[in-house]
Formats: sequence, C-alpha cells, structure tokens
Amino acid sequence: MDFFDVIRTRRSIRVFDGRPVEEEKLRAILEAANAAPSAGNLQAYEIYMVKDPIARGRLASTLTKMEFFSIVPVVLAFCANPERSTVKYAERGRNLYAVQDATIACTHAMLAATALGLASVWVGAFREMEVSAALNLPEALMPVALLPVGYPLETVEPRTRRPLNEIVHSVK
Ligand SMILES: Cc1cc2nc3c(=O)[nH]c(=O)nc-3n(C[C@H](O)[C@H](O)[C@H](O)COP(=O)(O)O)c2cc1C
Repeated sequence: MDFFDVIRTRRSIRVFDGRPVEEEKLRAILEAANAAPSAGNLQAYEIYMVKDPIARGRLASTLTKMEFFSIVPVVLAFCANPERSTVKYAERGRNLYAVQDATIACTHAMLAATALGLASVWVGAFREMEVSAALNLPEALMPVALLPVGYPLETVEPRTRRPLNEIVHSVK
C-alpha cells in the first residue's frame, strides 16, 4: 500500500475477529517499530508482546471497555525505558526522550499493521501500576501505549480533524 493510502485508511478499530496474525506479518510490524528514529539512536523503549490468552485476559481486566483484548490475538505494549536515555541525555532523556522513543515506535507499528491489512487501536487510558503488574514489567519501565493488533470486524468512518489553518501557525 502506498504510504499516503496507509495514512488515509488507518482507523482506530475496537472490534476484532479472533483470527491469528501471521508470524511474518507480526515480524514485519516489529521490524517497522525497530526502524523508528530515537534520540541518539538509544531506543529507550521495550516492546512486550502479549499473545497468551491468560496474559491478555489479565491485561483486559486492568482496562474498562476493552473487552476485545480477550479476543484480539496480540497486544503490543510499548514501554519507555528512561534509564537508557538518561545515560546520555540526563533529565531530558528521562522525562521526554524515552517516552517519545516509545511512542514513535508504536506509531511505526500501527502504520505497518494498516499496510498489512490489519487493524489496531492505540490505548493510552490505563493505570500504569496495574498494567505494569499485569505484564510483570521491571520497575524501571513505564508502559506508554498498548496496541492490540488483529483483523477488523468493523468498518469505521474517518474521524474529523481540526482544519490545518487552525493547527498550523505561520511564524514571521
Ligand atoms: C495517545 C493516544 C491515546 C489513546 N487512548 C485511547 C484509549 O485509551 N482508548 C481508545 O479506545 N482509543 C484511544 N486512542 C485512539 C483515539 O481515540 C483515536 O486515535 C482518535 O479518536 C481518532 O480516531 P482515528 O484513530 O480512527 O483516526 C488513543 C490515541 C492516542 C494517540
């Protein structure tokens, strides 16, 4: 799919069928995440991949209105690893770059999923402590985004956006 078609057709999808994601597609999604830029190329993030139904159920139980987590075949949890960025960038690495690294990687994964005919939704509304416990994360990691990936069972109209002339500010 052409890059701009990927951008145009991507939607947040919250209804999935249970079909598994092919291993080669999953690999391509993870490679796309790994190709994302990061501050100083330090890649201050980790990806936790949740396929196991019991682990997915554990994750689902920490979220409200996310029943589909039990159905979707895989959830990728993008976690900031502030220590990696702090070594070079001190507070800016700890407070900003690690989160940005994780979110860019998640964005790459999300767009790659679309390009491969898969669907996803970025989930950010969760209690960090509960998700960390559900994923057995090391204490130093901070879950930033959950990305369930699977085959869509709904079609969604494009959501409206703010007009460009409202968002873009010309500096003179
Ligand atoms: C940082 C961030 C956090 C989000 N958190 C959630 C969430 O917790 N639950 C959810 O259903 N969608 C979540 N979304 C998806 C947005 O609701 C969605 O991107 C937005 O409504 C625009 O729709 P679209 O993605 O179909 O264009 C999140 C998106 C972003 C970028």
